[in-house]
Amino acid sequence: MDILIIGSGGREYSIGLALSNDKNVDKLYFAPGNGATNRFGENISITDFEDLATFVKDNNIDLTIVGPEAPLVDGIVDVFKSHNLNVFGSSKAASQLEGSKIFMKNFLKRNSIPTAAFIETTNIKIANDFIDSLQTPIVVKADGLCAGKGVIIATSHEEAKKAASDMLSGESFGDAGTSIVVEEFLDGYELSVFAICDGEDYKILPAAQDHKRLLDGDKGPNTGGMGAYAPTPLINDELYKKINERVVDPTLKGMRDEGYPFEGVLFIGIMVVNGEPIVLEYNVRFGDPECEILMPLLKSPPSELFYKAATKDLKNLKIELSNEYAVCVVMASEHYPYKSSKPAEIIVNDSVDKEVLDNTHISYAGVTLEDDKLYATGGRVLLCVGLGNSIEEARNRAYDRCGDIHFVGKKFRTDIAYQALK
Ligand code: AMP
Ligand code: GLY
Repeated sequence: MDILIIGSGGREYSIGLALSNDKNVDKLYFAPGNGATNRFGENISITDFEDLATFVKDNNIDLTIVGPEAPLVDGIVDVFKSHNLNVFGSSKAASQLEGSKIFMKNFLKRNSIPTAAFIETTNIKIANDFIDSLQTPIVVKADGLCAGKGVIIATSHEEAKKAASDMLSGESFGDAGTSIVVEEFLDGYELSVFAICDGEDYKILPAAQDHKRLLDGDKGPNTGGMGAYAPTPLINDELYKKINERVVDPTLKGMRDEGYPFEGVLFIGIMVVNGEPIVLEYNVRFGDPECEILMPLLKSPPSELFYKAATKDLKNLKIELSNEYAVCVVMASEHYPYKSSKPAEIIVNDSVDKEVLDNTHISYAGVTLEDDKLYATGGRVLLCVGLGNSIEEARNRAYDRCGDIHFVGKKFRTDIAYQALK
């Protein structure tokens, strides 16, 4: 089958890499892809959804997989479905789970799914009164999509009030912040849980842990994610059962009952507090960098999983997962996440020993190809992914591979997976 992947990051590269090793897959296309996705597919530069649908029809592409949230929230799936095309991703209505924090919080409340106590408001006085009723830290969130930056964890009441006021005035995030959610702080540990859904049925992938802060020890500003590992030992069968019964099942039922069945990747950000799962947020796509470690852990053909999810046929599918662990380390550019950095040529030496080479790979993200040379041109440039029989072995291999990659200004965390290894 021929498959089109929408997106340009490490997530889309890793989906493409997995599909390129899948015997059911003939040709891959990326829109727009990056400077390395053309190693196993054709990059196309169409962005308009109708034009993309026409391209898919003209080229007899069997399936389209949508990577990032923005086209999902903007309704790409609805356009493709109106042309009877097979597309893996959530509809515009269902994507509100990620596109609007207010929709998400009210959905959780309506369906009695555990989440932090909150109010939603456009009014500063209501926000301030609720802030006064909470203990610090206090969480203030902009309603709309803010590229992962719309959440402030304030350590004082004054800071929370200032964050609320800056959002409501439009100063912080423009229109995305003129409605806000204020909520209680949850003290626990975070898990990323991924369910591949066809509206009715779902398949759970191994739970992962991301590292959102820029610096070692979870210090510094929030980023899109600096590294991840899976499966995490911070989850066991009992917790999976609670998550399925209290979160995944009622979410899919609620979405169906409300008229927008959930198809695509349901990514649930969970805080585990005293052994109980509480929903922090939903995303409607794979996490990035989580996708880069989940793809190598999927042993059964990824084309089958995505195609069956897109055609409402997951019920009888058995997926096979690897017994190994995967760890990825993000290499970012000099000024990430503050501002862009000068393009820098990437040199990969591959001088590590064979065992490391055989059990690692690079997933390319913010890269551009020019005159046969690869340049770091994005914030998160590439990821080193290591596999192993333990988290420690996978992590050591990923870091060995990092030592082989050079570009001016490269930076990465040195403590990925520390929570699993302490
Ligand atoms: P979100 O975009 O809602 O996932 O928030 C981004 C990050 O902020 C989460 O991954 C958590 O680390 C943190 N966060 C969000 N809400 C809360 C909360 N109620 N309590 C503690 N941490 C939170
Ligand atoms: N890694 C977190 C995210 O993709 O939102």
